[in-house]
Amino acid sequence: MSADAGDAGVRLRAQLAARGLEWPAEIEHTPLSPSTNDRLKQRARAGAAEWTVVLADAQTAGRGRQGRRWSSPPGNLYLSVLLRPAPPGARWSVLPLAAGLAVAEALAVEGLDARLKWPNDVMVGERKVGGILAEATSGADGLESVVLGVGVNVAVRPPDLPPDVAATVTCAAEELARAVDRVVLAGAVLVRLTVWYHALAREGPRVVQTAWRARAVPWWGRAVEAQSGGRRLRGIARDLDEGGALILELEDGTRAVLHSGEVREVRPARD
Ligand code: BTN
Repeated sequence: MSADAGDAGVRLRAQLAARGLEWPAEIEHTPLSPSTNDRLKQRARAGAAEWTVVLADAQTAGRGRQGRRWSSPPGNLYLSVLLRPAPPGARWSVLPLAAGLAVAEALAVEGLDARLKWPNDVMVGERKVGGILAEATSGADGLESVVLGVGVNVAVRPPDLPPDVAATVTCAAEELARAVDRVVLAGAVLVRLTVWYHALAREGPRVVQTAWRARAVPWWGRAVEAQSGGRRLRGIARDLDEGGALILELEDGTRAVLHSGEVREVRPARD
């Protein structure tokens, strides 16, 4: 589909311009995509410019982290953005966290107290409202590109999602008891992402780490269980390091540094 074809792509560009941001690359809008991440990775291989965006109204093969399916009916936000971070360096490992931060901040503008659950879930209370799928490509010279895929449950109510996820998710419209414009939300996400990206390039990962911690679910010092690299670990959530890894203090007093996986809080059993 051609550049900015369709109303949502044009509106998104206008949203960004209204916030003082002349978007520097193509915004491809499509009514239906298998996966905006897959589409953008294809475009990246063909040389698409940094900040190229793919926005879909629905996906037929939406993907989540850890090979999971991301249910993608019309009404929610499905967006991917291409970055070509330079020069290569360790700082970019927090890019997925910066994307989560951008989503939480965009939801905060709408009035939602969205919190971040490591590594990349955007939560309202106990329920998930959005997530990030970051996919990097490396070449001989190191990191070549990163596709950041953003999925936010905007308007589709949990009962209209598959039963295996319905109990653990929510949507912005339900939480706010009003309609939320997904294109306005997309504009806010992209604006905040550019802010964090440039801050990261200029000042290094600590800015993202600090902001992310401040928006995290309040589990520092609490007992958690982690599933990471085929291991199950129990410990106390202590911190996030500069690379975005989660630091756990294990029951034997040693520290574990987790670079990927899933974590849940362990609540003391009630009588
Ligand atoms: C997660 O598991 O929490 C991450 C979900 C990411 C879903 C988004 S929707 C837009 C983009 N395209 C995909 O196929 N996945 C991401």
